[in-house]
Amino acid sequence: MRKIIIAGNWKMNMLFPEVEEFLFELSDELEGKDLNSVDVIVCPPSPYLEITSDIANDSKFYVGAQNINENNNGAYTGEISAAMLKSMELTYCIIGHSERRKYFSESDEMVNAKLKKLHENCIVPIVCIGETLEQREQGITKKIILSQLDGAFKDIKINNNVVIAYEPIWAIGTGKTATPQQAQEIHAIIRKWLEESYKKDIAENVSILYGGSMKPENVKELLLQSDIDGGLIGGASLDVSKFSKMIEIAVEL
Ligand code: 13P
Repeated sequence: MRKIIIAGNWKMNMLFPEVEEFLFELSDELEGKDLNSVDVIVCPPSPYLEITSDIANDSKFYVGAQNINENNNGAYTGEISAAMLKSMELTYCIIGHSERRKYFSESDEMVNAKLKKLHENCIVPIVCIGETLEQREQGITKKIILSQLDGAFKDIKINNNVVIAYEPIWAIGTGKTATPQQAQEIHAIIRKWLEESYKKDIAENVSILYGGSMKPENVKELLLQSDIDGGLIGGASLDVSKFSKMIEIAVEL
C-alpha cells in the first residue's frame, strides 16, 4: 500500500526568522495527527536545511533538499553534494525540477547523474518531469514524459527508493491546475512505464506525486485518482495553514 506524500517545495522563498515559526506551527499541527497513511516532507532552501532537520527530529515530518550537484565534492563554488545531505541524515532530495531545467540548463543526463549520486548516498530522489504548454498543445506530452523517464532512469535500479513527481509546466505557479483526469492519465502512463522498465511490484510501490497549483481546494479530487499518490506543492506550501489543511485532507481520505 502506497502512503500519500504531501511535500512542500519552498523554492527560493522564506527568510530565516520565518522558518522557525513556520516549522513550529507545522509541528504543532502534526502533533495530534495520525500519520500512518501520510508522509509529510518539507524541502526548504539549503541554508535552512539544518534548522529544518533539527525541528523535524522532534516532529513528524521529513526533510528534503531542492537540488544537488552531480559531483562528489571539490571546487564547485555554491553547490551542495549528495554526501553532504547524507551526512545531515536527510531523507529526500528533489531533482530535475522544471525550473532547474529551464533556468540552469539541467538536462536528462544531469538528472540521471544526480539520481545515481543520491542512490549512492541512500537519499530518496524526488524526480520531476513534465511537459510545457506548447508540447501539450502539439500532442506530444506522452512522448516527452517517456523520454524524460528514459533519460533520468538510464541504468538505474530501483527498489522502493525513488519518488516521481509529474509537474506539467503550464500548471506550475499559474493557478491553472491539471484536471484530475488529465493528471491521472499521465500518472497511469508513468506507472505503466515503471512496470515495463522494471517490474509490476516496483511499479505498484513507487509513489507518483502531482505538482502544479495544488491547493486545499483541489487536493482531494487529485488525491482520489488511483495513480496520484500525493502532491509536490509550491506556492500553497508557503502558507502553514494551507499546507496543514492539505495534510489534514490527505489524512482523512
Ligand atoms: P506551485 O504549487 O506553486 O504551482 O508549484 C509547483 C511546483 O513546482 C512544486 O515543485
